[in-house]
Amino acid sequence: MNFHVLTLFPDMILSGLETSITGRAILAGTISLEAVNIRDYTVNKHKKVDDYPYGGGAGMLMQAQPVYDAWEDVEKKIHQRRSIAADESLDGQSDEAKKTRVIYLTPQGTTFHQRMAKELAKEEDLIFLCGHYEGIDERVLQEIVTDYVSIGDYVLTGGELPAMVMIDAIARMVPGVLSNQESGETESFSNYLLEYPQYSRPEVWREQKVPDFLLSGDHKKIEEWCSEQSLEKTRQLRPELYEKWAVENQEYFDKKAKREERQRKKLLKQLKKQTQI
Ligand code: 6GU
Repeated sequence: MNFHVLTLFPDMILSGLETSITGRAILAGTISLEAVNIRDYTVNKHKKVDDYPYGGGAGMLMQAQPVYDAWEDVEKKIHQRRSIAADESLDGQSDEAKKTRVIYLTPQGTTFHQRMAKELAKEEDLIFLCGHYEGIDERVLQEIVTDYVSIGDYVLTGGELPAMVMIDAIARMVPGVLSNQESGETESFSNYLLEYPQYSRPEVWREQKVPDFLLSGDHKKIEEWCSEQSLEKTRQLRPELYEKWAVENQEYFDKKAKREERQRKKLLKQLKKQTQI
């Protein structure tokens, strides 16, 4: 998967994402990351990319021309790469003609969430457009943007951090980016739910012991315990997520009720046996 970021601060994007897991995926070639400096495309002799908004108002706006030319260059290169790939595999009707989605980072967009990350991870290329100052001339947005996305209800100084947040979340959904060990948390159970608490050595730290269940060695019991913890933590910290999960996973509660019923019967049987003796 190939990420292309149109920005006035390419170093910010690269330094953030060429680190840790995304950095490893870039080196391995599982994903690629290109940060295109919009300023390189200005035709202004002073390399200016912003101007005052018509009608007045606070701050400066990014002008349409450099943004459009930067996008056009990226789009052209993607198209060329796909055409070459299509010719090589003799597959004329591949999606080479499809236009790449262009995501404009703006607090006015739809709020980003995990499902969106999973969906976007299916794309071969994604273009992110980062605004700065008070925004970008509406005409170029109309011309090139396909998705308006925000990362939450607060205002940041630019679209770079939101683009990095999105790319991180999308990249970890791309097959091969996470190692097998790391990928467990995308299993269906953890959808909507928070992670259960985890512990490492030592067994006792500041007089606090690791929960006995985790030391039991009984994998089924441990799994049940983790699910319970995950559910309980979600119910306490994110009740709205818990409700959503509960509605869609009624069978979990049915199974749990049956399990508890079986355990009760077993216990009762044992008690009866003991009293008979
Ligand atoms: Cl996408 N951009 C800016 N500037 N601020 C934000 C945001 C985006 N999402 C939340 N706040």
